[in-house]
Amino acid sequence: MAKSQDRYVCQSCGAVYAKWQGRCEECGGWNSVIEETAKAPLSKALGGRRGRKLEFVSLQGTAGADHRLATGIAELDRVLGGGMVPGSAILIGGDPGIGKSTLLLQTVGALAKGGADCVYISGEEAADQIAMRGRRVGMNEDKVRFAAASDLRDILASLAAADPIHAVVIDSIQTLHSDTLDSAPGTVAQVRTAAQELVAYAKRSGAAVFLVGHVTKDGQIAGPRVVEHMVDTVLYFEGDRSHRFRILRVVKNRFGATDEIGVFAMTEGGLAEIANPSALFLGQGNARASGAAVFAGIEGSRPLLVEIQALVAASSFTTPRRAVVGWDSGRLAMILAVLDARCGMTLSGRDVYLNVAGGLRVNEPAADLAAAAALVSSLANEPLPEDAVVFGEISLAGEVRPVAHTEARIKEAAKLGFTQALIPFGSGLRNPPLRLTELERLSDLLALFPPVEKRVQA
Ligand code: TYD
Ligand code: MG
Repeated sequence: MAKSQDRYVCQSCGAVYAKWQGRCEECGGWNSVIEETAKAPLSKALGGRRGRKLEFVSLQGTAGADHRLATGIAELDRVLGGGMVPGSAILIGGDPGIGKSTLLLQTVGALAKGGADCVYISGEEAADQIAMRGRRVGMNEDKVRFAAASDLRDILASLAAADPIHAVVIDSIQTLHSDTLDSAPGTVAQVRTAAQELVAYAKRSGAAVFLVGHVTKDGQIAGPRVVEHMVDTVLYFEGDRSHRFRILRVVKNRFGATDEIGVFAMTEGGLAEIANPSALFLGQGNARASGAAVFAGIEGSRPLLVEIQALVAASSFTTPRRAVVGWDSGRLAMILAVLDARCGMTLSGRDVYLNVAGGLRVNEPAADLAAAAALVSSLANEPLPEDAVVFGEISLAGEVRPVAHTEARIKEAAKLGFTQALIPFGSGLRNPPLRLTELERLSDLLALFPPVEKRVQA
């Protein structure tokens, strides 16, 4: 009989099959379908028991005050939307070594300092190791309760006994193991079960639960998207490991905005908060080289100035190289196509490299114009004015389109000593704090440089 309960589940998307197959039809992944044994099918588990009657309540009556708990780490509170919501589940994903454990250790440290009861459970490190790290980041580890554990049943039992708890950290969700399942830790079934139980625990107890999730090669939190659907908030901790800056980015938040970021620097003594990051990503040196443009961006509620660097070089490949770091490669392809089709500036036969300084990832379409300016500047071998910022979206028709928050971008640039800005036409700003050059079309940008087209053909 047991045989009929076996099923085959894709480990990357969660699709279920009755038979094994080499390729998942849902997500196209190869060798991702493995056998799982479901011990008690739901329909049977429900058996003959009658459902309990639910008590319906009025939303008016239960909508209490917004009692969020500030973690004491302002950059984290910012991305959470103003502190942790009791009973919420928060998933923090990121590459190994980026600083997830450090961030959460500092978080429980700060929470404990504020008088909250916290539990930190690690399936990856021993208590000594965590204590050592705790001393390194200068936290008083006496008040936080630690355990090195990975058995889901033990963890849930201990949490229930340790009540009241304000915050729990589970580091990481992939190390947990439930004995009701045969599959290995880290498989979809295990991760899903652990996440389900812990989310239910959060709702039941009112504790905020932080789940650490590892990210796979292709950038997804391993043990698929299903966990992202179950939790209230999904944060990604990202950054270039060769740089010290780390960005905490919101991907999903039931209790706040999803475009907010928190900025940290990894130091010898743990993560330091960067309350005013606007000048961090400007690159070094005062004299700007050709191929560099300063983009006046907005990340969440804060303006952020970041240098975008481009290099256009003669190619020795049959298919020229296009390499992008910190920006969308599809977006670069689009800009190159628009430069070609609308401005007659063809870059085929040339390698194109684009880099966002400082390991930041830029997602705003407003960066189009800055990327284009960097490309044209590199091709023309002519630096942009040192004291200029650039922003604007580029349409397929070659127009420079207006973007949101023009005033905030310009104000921040002026504050950091910039004196001119290349921006979309029609800003309507009166008395701007710096000199504006308003562009209607991408070709207007090219006109600011010595004739580029000739050099391209030469
Ligand atoms: P960690 O939090 O262990 O990363 P994750 O949990 O995401 O895998 O961070 C480990 C890295 O951070 C490691 O390369 C060392 C560095 N680090 C510092 O530079 N300073 C510190 O104070 C700490 C605790 C770690
Ligand atoms: Mg870790």
